[in-house]
Parts: sequence; structure tokens; C-alpha cells
Amino acid sequence: MKKVMVIHGPNLNLLGVREPGVYGLATLDKINALLLDTAKELKLTVDFFQSNSEGEIIDCIHRALGQVQAIIINPGAYTHYSIAIRDALAAVAIPTVEVHISNVQAREEFRRHSVIAPVAVGTIAGFGIQSYVLALRAVDALLNKGD
Ligand code: DQA
Repeated sequence: MKKVMVIHGPNLNLLGVREPGVYGLATLDKINALLLDTAKELKLTVDFFQSNSEGEIIDCIHRALGQVQAIIINPGAYTHYSIAIRDALAAVAIPTVEVHISNVQAREEFRRHSVIAPVAVGTIAGFGIQSYVLALRAVDALLNKGD
């Protein structure tokens, strides 16, 4: 079975409590449960990782090398400035989908730029927790291209 690593970046452990007007009321556990259901339907295996630290996220990306066929990442605020996370994704060259709960293009100016986007296959943003489900479906389409 093809395996997907789902990486949740900083402050996403506080979903459910954190700015519910922007991010909704669903917790990270709820999102992961939704992804597990979708993965079952798509016959994919998913692994989850959350960290508030840039280095730990980079280590997780390195560990994924040779272990997973795709990465889904919500880099949180690192999206906007972590060249180190971008370089890690470029280094492992595992097809990656960038995800955001909120529509980052419709928010503050500083959220409109992603340093991750150029090394991702694509970005899904603005659909609340469904952004993650759509990302997993995008990964499935990507991995089964040509089937
Ligand atoms: C976010 C958007 C980022 O700008 C923000 O820093 C986050 C969450 C999102 O999922 O909408 O932490 O990645």
C-alpha cells in the first residue's frame, strides 16, 4: 500500500481552541481521524507528525526518504519564511501537497507568499478541514496517474 506522511506545523496542535473564527472548531485529532477514513477509502496508508519546531519538521521530512510516496504538509507560519523546510522538501524530492485551512490569499499580506509552494506539486487552501481531505484525494490522483 502506498504511504503518505501528513505533517502538521506549528500551532496546529491548538486547533479547536486557536482562533476558531479563522480555523474552525475541529481539533487536530478530528482532522487525523477524517484523513484515516479517507485513506481507508482510497486504500492508502497515512502517518501523522506534528511539531512546533522547524528542525523536527525537517528531520521528519528526511526520515520520509524511501519510506513514503507522498507528503502532505501544513507548514503553518513556516510557510511564509522557512527556506530550510523548503530545502528539505527539495532535497528528498517526494511529491508534496501544501495545505492550509484558511484562504491565505484572502488574509494579511505576509500570508500571501509561500516559500514552500515552488517545491510542492500544488497547494490547497481555504476549505477548512476539508482542505486536508482534498489534499489526500489530490495525492491519490497523483500517485495513480497513468493507471
Ligand atoms: C495556516 C495559515 C498560516 O498563515 C498560519 O500561520 C497557520 C495556519 C492555515 O492552515 O490556514 O498557522 O497554515
